[in-house]
Amino acid sequence: MSELSNFQHIFQKGSTDSGRTILALHGTGGDEGSLLPITRVVAPGASILSVRGKVLENGAPRFFRRLAEGVFDMEDLHFRTSELAEFIHQAATTYNFETKDLFAIGYSNGANIASSLMLSFPGLLRGGVLFRAMVPFVPPTSPDLTGTHVFMAQGKHDPIVPLEQAEDLCLMMRSFGASVELKWIEMDHRITRAELNDASDWLAKQA
Ligand code: MLT
Repeated sequence: MSELSNFQHIFQKGSTDSGRTILALHGTGGDEGSLLPITRVVAPGASILSVRGKVLENGAPRFFRRLAEGVFDMEDLHFRTSELAEFIHQAATTYNFETKDLFAIGYSNGANIASSLMLSFPGLLRGGVLFRAMVPFVPPTSPDLTGTHVFMAQGKHDPIVPLEQAEDLCLMMRSFGASVELKWIEMDHRITRAELNDASDWLAKQA
């Protein structure tokens, strides 16, 4: 694996009857182990590629730098997004899965890099389940997201993600051709069991 895209990660092979692979992307302060329990609920039987973000914010791993809460370092975001895309290609060869069938499951900062991957490299992922996502960036030209399927679960009382950020991301992705289901939860930044079940039902319907 090249130095450029050398990410700490876990790969767990799924049960033989499920061909699906999930890219699991943690929130700020998490690591490659953090989203495994959630991913097993949302995508039972799937193979899991769970990655640790390389940026450290006061020791807390993240997928890209931020200047303040909700204010992203755009140069770093684009660099880290490309680096992660390169890693995904390498991992697909190493672990023998098809990227075109790959769904991300991302939480918070992990949801934001998942959106950034979809906006920057249309078709790299088949789609994603995004918990507490924001607009990572607004592309200067419209990517074609036809065939990209996204489920968003957002907290109505989230002190970190403003409601309009979720609405803007949903509308922007739809305007680029993605199919996006946005679900509002009576919750804050924390994920509830009910929304994991909703995400699981949604994912099971994606062919
Ligand atoms: C981010 O930085 O990606 C978002 O503000 C969410 C977070 O990780 O706190």
